[in-house]
Amino acid sequence: MNVPPADGPGNPPPDDGTAMDAEFDTVARWTADAALDLGPDHHAPAACRGSGSPGAMRWLLDRLAVGRQDTMLDCGAGLGGPAAFATGETGARLLLCDPEPGACQGAVRLFGLPAVQADSRLPFRSAAVDVAWSLGVLCTVDDQPLLLSELRRVLRPGGRLGLLVYVAAHPPLPVQPEGNDFPTDAAARSMIEAAGFTLHDSATTGDMAAAPPEWTERAAAVQELLERRHGDDPRWRTAARQSGIIGQLLADGDLVGTLYSATAR
Ligand SMILES: C[S@@+](CC[C@H](N)C(=O)[O-])C[C@H]1O[C@@H](n2cnc3c(N)ncnc32)[C@H](O)[C@@H]1O
Repeated sequence: MNVPPADGPGNPPPDDGTAMDAEFDTVARWTADAALDLGPDHHAPAACRGSGSPGAMRWLLDRLAVGRQDTMLDCGAGLGGPAAFATGETGARLLLCDPEPGACQGAVRLFGLPAVQADSRLPFRSAAVDVAWSLGVLCTVDDQPLLLSELRRVLRPGGRLGLLVYVAAHPPLPVQPEGNDFPTDAAARSMIEAAGFTLHDSATTGDMAAAPPEWTERAAAVQELLERRHGDDPRWRTAARQSGIIGQLLADGDLVGTLYSATAR
C-alpha cells in the first residue's frame, strides 16, 4: 500500500495484469531497487508495505512475547520490512513466505532474509513455528479461513499469532478495491476463533504512536524516486489507484486497521 494517492477517475484501465500483481510484484520489485539505491536506512521504511508503523509492529511483538529463542513465520511478508523489524527488535529467527516473486526476491536483496514463494498452502511442516504474524494480508486472500487454518497448522500448540487486518467498519463499502475482501471486526474474530485460536487482545492502528519523522521522510523519499522513475508506467498507475482508494477508505473511517493477538489452541 506504499504508493502515492490515486489520481482522478479519468485514468485508463489497468493494462498489465491485475491491481494485485501490479502492487505486490512489479511495484515491490521497483521499490527494492529504489531502496537499495537510496541506502540501508531507507530499506525498512520502504519495505513495510501494509503494516505501517513501528508502533503497530511493537504492539504485536510485545503481545506475542517474541524472543530470540523463537522461530517466527511472516506470512505474506512482502518485501520483508516487518520481518527485518521483528528480528532486529527481538533476535527471533524469521521465515518468510509470499506468493509474489518480486516480493520474495526483494526481501532477500534488501535484508538477506530467507523467503519462500508460496500462497496460502504453506510449505512448512505442522507445528514448525512458535510465532507467526501476517500483516495486511488476510483481506487480499480469496479463501481467508484456509489461510488461518494453515497458520494454525504450522504453529505449535500454544504458539502465538499476530494479525493486522483491515476491517470494514459498516459494510457495504462505498467503493470496493479490486482483489480485496474486507471482513467486519466480528467476522474476523469469528474466523480466527473457528481456525483454532483463542483471541487475547486487539487494538486499532489509530491507537498506535505515529511513526518517527525520519521513518516517514525515508518512506516518502522512496516514493518520490519511484514516481520519478515509473510515474508514467500503467502498472504504477494501477497500483497508485488501488492504494489511493484504500487510503481514502481508511481516512474516512470505512476501513479500520485492526491488530489481533491470539494463541493456538
Ligand atoms: C499489503 S501487502 C503486506 C506485505 C507485508 N506483510 C507488509 O506488511 O509489509 C500483502 C501481501 O500479501 C501477499 N499475499 C497475497 N495473497 C497471499 C496468500 N494467499 N498467502 C500469503 N500471502 C499473500 C501479497 O503478495 C503481498 O505481499
